[in-house]
Amino acid sequence: MAADPVLARAIGVEDLTVIRHLETAFEEETKNTATCRAYAAQADEEGFHGIASLFRAVARAEQIHAANHSRVLRQMSGPAAVQIPLPHVGGSLENLRAALADQRFEVDYLYPTFLTAAVPLVDSTAIRTFHWALEADKSHVRLFWQLMPRVGADKAGWAYTPHHFFVCALCGYVAQDPESDNCPSCNFLWEKFETIQ
Ligand SMILES: [Fe+2]
Ligand SMILES: [Fe+2]
Repeated sequence: MAADPVLARAIGVEDLTVIRHLETAFEEETKNTATCRAYAAQADEEGFHGIASLFRAVARAEQIHAANHSRVLRQMSGPAAVQIPLPHVGGSLENLRAALADQRFEVDYLYPTFLTAAVPLVDSTAIRTFHWALEADKSHVRLFWQLMPRVGADKAGWAYTPHHFFVCALCGYVAQDPESDNCPSCNFLWEKFETIQ
């Protein structure tokens, strides 16, 4: 995928860095969407239906991030498209560790770096999509971190039973239980969260 410099200049975007960052973020989130879906299928196959529910919820959240980035990209440089490789799928514990590493990469490096570059340009649409993704990804890190130890628990335990997760349709924040009237990340109404199992 390549930014269109002519279109970008025509709408007043002087610094193409933010467009490159949006493209990278779109690619990363699209890849994570496919990967988490594949991990969910693997978890179901192994009988870890609770873990599969979590992967599906995070896959939906990552899809929301990709769609948000794509919308901004469309305004700044044209339609976004990307080819992604087939995900590598291992056992569910390995997949959980890999998914946690992907989310930590976004939280610790990707979005802080992109926000630092976008803020001086005062481009509010790019700042907002990066900020929402960063805050939502922190909720994914927390859930993977909290729920990973349950994989080794007894056969009737949490990891084996399907669960509902709540996903903010605006920013991709994920929660196990309703937390307040509004999304803690983007302030969207809780009643508009999607329920994923
Ligand atoms: Fe994300
Ligand atoms: Fe939200």
